[in-house]
Amino acid sequence: MKHIISPTDLTVSELRELLDLAEEIIRDPKKYSNICHGKKLATLFYEPSTRTRLSFEAAMLNLGGNVLGFSSADSSSAAKGESVADTIRVISHYADICAMRHPKEGAPLVASLYSSIPIINAGDGGHNHPTQTFTDLLTIKNLKGRLDCLTVGFCGDLKFGRTVHSLIGALSRYKNIKFVLISPEELMLPAYIREEVIEGNHIPYEEVRILEDVMPDLDILYMTRVQRERFFNEEDYIRLKDTYILDMKKMALAKPDMLVLHPLPRVNEIATEVDSDPRAVYFKQAQFGVYIRMALIMKLLEVV
Ligand code: NCD
Repeated sequence: MKHIISPTDLTVSELRELLDLAEEIIRDPKKYSNICHGKKLATLFYEPSTRTRLSFEAAMLNLGGNVLGFSSADSSSAAKGESVADTIRVISHYADICAMRHPKEGAPLVASLYSSIPIINAGDGGHNHPTQTFTDLLTIKNLKGRLDCLTVGFCGDLKFGRTVHSLIGALSRYKNIKFVLISPEELMLPAYIREEVIEGNHIPYEEVRILEDVMPDLDILYMTRVQRERFFNEEDYIRLKDTYILDMKKMALAKPDMLVLHPLPRVNEIATEVDSDPRAVYFKQAQFGVYIRMALIMKLLEVV
């Protein structure tokens, strides 16, 4: 039995198989419409979510399976003080696979130690978000045709953004990748990721403050929301929240085939005028999130 706690829990070749399966679903979405008949997915969400939870649920329904779960800690026994370990021991008997989101880093890993069904980390605090990363990789591979030889800019909250941490970890395994880290001083990428993942893999990178300066270099621009819920005080959030706003003036500096990704939700960091630019692919990316989760559920349940 396999759990997905970090994006690198899949090898590069397992990941290629997963992406291939997702692309097969894109070509023929009905092909697997009954393959999970009689199987149940539990979605245990201790933190808010729209896309991740609903795309997991849509994925399981598209496969002919069923879903059960809760969408906030308040509506579960966590509100009475139950531990994640006890909850998952019980849920293991109610479902065949589980997607868990939790504000505490490491909670899905703890759950996996007590679980007799596969656990998928659907976001743990400021740490990791592997299924968003698989979604991002599918988007890049499908629309760009490759996962190597890319200059990838990450812009916004690189400190607390778990989607950024996960995608950097996953992309670090491909050839000729370069990272451009664009953030205010206070929201720079944590040193442990810079040192262990980027420098540890000898990946060229630069850290900059001004988005305009690097726009022409980028093949991918990964925009992120400033993660309000992980700030210690509201004043800092208000000061930093609108540091970067991507608009058409900045888009004019970019390559004609650059792609703009964003895990969503967007707040102010991308002006809505950008949405109609063909390079803005964040809504397509959200759609791909269903296909990659379908592929992942099938792989973990070993039905393909
Ligand atoms: C992201 C998350 O939850 O980390 N959202 C998502 O899953 N698509 C990004 C965010 O909340 O900013």
